[in-house]
Amino acid sequence: MATNSSTIPLLTPYKMGEFNLSHRIVLAPLTRNRSYGNVPQPHAILYYSQRTTKGGLLIAEATGVSDTAQGYPETPGIWSKEQVEAWKPIVDAVHEKGGVFFCQIWHVGRVSTYALQPNGQAPISSTDKGCTPGFEGVDWAPPRRLRTDEIPGIVNDFRLAARNAIEAGFDGVEIHGAHGYLIDQFMKDKVNDRTDEYGGSLENRCRFALEVVEAVVKEIGGDRVGIRLSPFVDYMESGDSNPDALGLYMANALNRFGILYLHAIEPRMVKIWDRYETPHSLLPMRKAFKGSLIAAGGYNRDDGNKAVAEDYADLVAFGRLFLANPDLPKRFELNAPLNKYNRSTFYIPDPVVGYTDYPFLD
Ligand SMILES: Cc1cc2nc3c(=O)[nH]c(=O)nc-3n(C[C@H](O)[C@H](O)[C@H](O)COP(=O)(O)O)c2cc1C
Repeated sequence: MATNSSTIPLLTPYKMGEFNLSHRIVLAPLTRNRSYGNVPQPHAILYYSQRTTKGGLLIAEATGVSDTAQGYPETPGIWSKEQVEAWKPIVDAVHEKGGVFFCQIWHVGRVSTYALQPNGQAPISSTDKGCTPGFEGVDWAPPRRLRTDEIPGIVNDFRLAARNAIEAGFDGVEIHGAHGYLIDQFMKDKVNDRTDEYGGSLENRCRFALEVVEAVVKEIGGDRVGIRLSPFVDYMESGDSNPDALGLYMANALNRFGILYLHAIEPRMVKIWDRYETPHSLLPMRKAFKGSLIAAGGYNRDDGNKAVAEDYADLVAFGRLFLANPDLPKRFELNAPLNKYNRSTFYIPDPVVGYTDYPFLD
């Protein structure tokens, strides 16, 4: 894309590692619950290719690393041969249009129910404290605290999932270390109540996350690895008493592994949908981390442009706006009106409605 003085900051090119991105507008990972039986479906080909631009970065929806990784119905996995094969045509479609496609690899930990676990067993976590039953309308199952000697097996599941993602054709993986799921359940001191080397001090609580990063980097190379973190937010009752210290510790520690990017959730996103005023900022993490920074959470065209112009972030991920506007980069370029998102169809299993039927500009 040619740059000139009238080009908005979000539409300027950016070289992220070996990837020559043509603009800064990233598709945020969005769970859509349309992968029946945890297998990606052909309708995802259209969904992702609609949101692909030449040189644009897309992050696939959270994708389970094992059969214990699911916490919601019909979410995709990447632990079986069948799932890897099912991802291939989706990844191919994105590549055909020139997109760069990362797979977000995920384990929900305690954010699950008996019905979603193999043989109806208890979900696993850093703790045996569950999410409050009925929280967000779900009957969460009390988790089983992982034994210390089981943790390498879970790290290995992330490693294998990363290998499978590369096998499926993805350009890389984003480790889901955010939003109250398993990795976050280890990092946050309001959840992690362990007394072994994975609990207590900040260093100990971050050990699991960093072991996952190390294993994945060794498997596929740091230039293909990103991680998503949300130290400041407490989704799924996963909060920390000192999020600034946690975020900064992780940003510094990640530098050891030479990973491609850090994808950080804005502190203002205290609740999943709404923006709040906050004294916290991603700036200290931004300054400490040596790779690329993707910021996400509540961004629109104006503050996305501002973030890039002020070098607050290299890239900005858009969730709900991109969900409802398959041609979001085009609309930002033209400053065109946006489709409104319909929350009631975010998570329904319909292969079309609320999924691939949001209109493009004429
Ligand atoms: C329908 C929906 C599904 C989401 N699924 C995921 C997910 O799979 N992984 C993740 O890290 N975040 C997920 N999120 C959070 C988004 O990636 C994003 O951070 C959030 O929507 C805030 O950005 P926004 O204000 O641009 O929408 C989801 C959000 C929505 C609305």
